[in-house]
Amino acid sequence: MRKLELNEILNYLIPTESYRFPMDLNEIFKDNLNDRFLGLEIGIGNGIFLVEVASKFPQRFFIGVEKSLRFLKDAIRRLGNVSVNNVKLFNSFGELVVRDILPNNSIDEVYVNFPDPWPKKAHVKRRLLNRRFLRVLSRRGKLGLKLWLLTDHHKYRDWVLDEVPKELYKAHWGVGIPQWVPQTKYMRKWLSEGKEIYHVILELRKRDEDQSLDERLRRVRDMIQVKFIGDNPVEKFSSMKGFTTKLTDSSGRTRAILKILDTISEEDRSWLECLIIEVTELYNLEQRILLKLSRDPKGYWWLRSESLGQVILTPNALKLVEKLLEELNPSEVAYSNL
Ligand SMILES: C[S@@+](CC[C@H](N)C(=O)[O-])C[C@H]1O[C@@H](n2cnc3c(N)ncnc32)[C@H](O)[C@@H]1O
Repeated sequence: MRKLELNEILNYLIPTESYRFPMDLNEIFKDNLNDRFLGLEIGIGNGIFLVEVASKFPQRFFIGVEKSLRFLKDAIRRLGNVSVNNVKLFNSFGELVVRDILPNNSIDEVYVNFPDPWPKKAHVKRRLLNRRFLRVLSRRGKLGLKLWLLTDHHKYRDWVLDEVPKELYKAHWGVGIPQWVPQTKYMRKWLSEGKEIYHVILELRKRDEDQSLDERLRRVRDMIQVKFIGDNPVEKFSSMKGFTTKLTDSSGRTRAILKILDTISEEDRSWLECLIIEVTELYNLEQRILLKLSRDPKGYWWLRSESLGQVILTPNALKLVEKLLEELNPSEVAYSNL
């Protein structure tokens, strides 16, 4: 598999510095988006759908959101192969991007292809297209917005139809795949297993008037941001692939691990792809994050997580980042919480 160059990633990935509400889409796309079509795909997987649609409509703009960095990298490779320049990506959760970043009245279409159905009763609350999400989306979307959902899961379909705020959206559904939709990986998988596929279309008729849906606008709560002074750490960082550090409890059991999976470096900036695994009583919390190291004009170094929502900033995760920093021997360190 082709190794990604830093520039290729930066070309598509929206940097955390730009995370704010409302995000300036003209700045992100380096173009004037006013009155232009914006499509949003949530859960892009390996990017087949996004690449096809963006290539077919070069005058339109598209944003893709994918929580898994591994899949996102596949999508970036695929985008690089066709060199489209009307796509930007978030390594994040769709809920957070819609709630905390995208401007009101900005989205024309939303695509959700084969979302995780979370079939167990206890997990239903994790489903993406819940009532709260659809209410927030009604403010971020343009009137007439269309949301296309494809699923093989009839219970998920019925559940979504129940969740739709009927005063805001007109909803209809059918069996089969609309003709314009390119075949995605999961679509192929389910079709080859002979499963029935359903589409649900929601059309935005009215916006939710509740302005409190814009109010909380958390800044990037889940971001790691560390400022420090020391010698140029880039060289050191670029040689740290494979570096592992862990936290143990009083009886010597491992509680949390940080491993650097990959590094990409330039003269005075560096990216670390890290895996953080935390052992909790109930489950292992596994997070893949990108940490970006860069220098500001005043000469301070910053280590920031590049993936909104991806990082659940537990005390142990922060301790692991502190341990990573110890390797660099900085003369001064300040942690800031955005
Ligand atoms: C079943 S796969 C479908 C992938 C692709 N849409 C397809 O049709 O081949 C679901 C994808 O959604 C991503 N995902 C799940 N929940 C998400 C969320 N809340 N925000 C963004 N991506 C999410 C998963 O990582 C995975 O890539």
